[in-house]
Amino acid sequence: MSRLTVAMPKGRIFEEAVELLREAGLPIPPEFEDSRKLIIPVEEINIDFILAKPTDVPTYVEYGVADIGVVGKDVLLEEERDVYELLDLKISHCRLSVAGLPDWKPTDAPRVATKYPKVASRYFREQGAQVEVIKLNGSIELAPLIGLADRIVDIVSTGRTLKENGLVELEEMMPITTRLIANRVSYRMKNAEIDYIVDKFASVIPRGE
Ligand code: PRP
Repeated sequence: MSRLTVAMPKGRIFEEAVELLREAGLPIPPEFEDSRKLIIPVEEINIDFILAKPTDVPTYVEYGVADIGVVGKDVLLEEERDVYELLDLKISHCRLSVAGLPDWKPTDAPRVATKYPKVASRYFREQGAQVEVIKLNGSIELAPLIGLADRIVDIVSTGRTLKENGLVELEEMMPITTRLIANRVSYRMKNAEIDYIVDKFASVIPRGE
């Protein structure tokens, strides 16, 4: 059996993904979550895990330095990398939404701040709306509060960040969950090994959702 490299996203998806791996019966060591190491070999299952910034997971997988990866659909849609999407892991449910101040009104020169410029541009173009999209890297909710943009496109999970900053959800764009992706060549060359992981995940994916 060939060794697999699996890219995991450090951040909010990470814990739920690790939990799912453990439920699937893969022997993930307890120090996995606390370590500062970026490459974690797990000899029992012949896998090297690499811990990457979530937005970089599709890049590692497209270039084949990771055979498979765990990543949010939001990142997949934004990064537009050439990878196979194998499985909806149905964890880390959230949604991508348009939000703004409650008294928001359309203006002549609308500006939208987001971490997802491609997704946002596509969305407004499809609606026939002309907007200027401003790329930010985090704390997107700040933008309407200080007048950088009149609306934002961002992930809403519990809704707490919007609420605590006096913003409201204006439109739900799409539901988001975590996906398992694979490098196209790896999927052919290491099919048995990858299918083994897919089956493990498939056996524990939350049902009825
Ligand atoms: C995400 C997202 C929102 C928040 C939504 O940010 O961009 O800000 O979580 O979650 P909630 O609805 O449960 O409040 P993240 O914490 O990833 O950090 P960031 O703002 O730096 O992107």
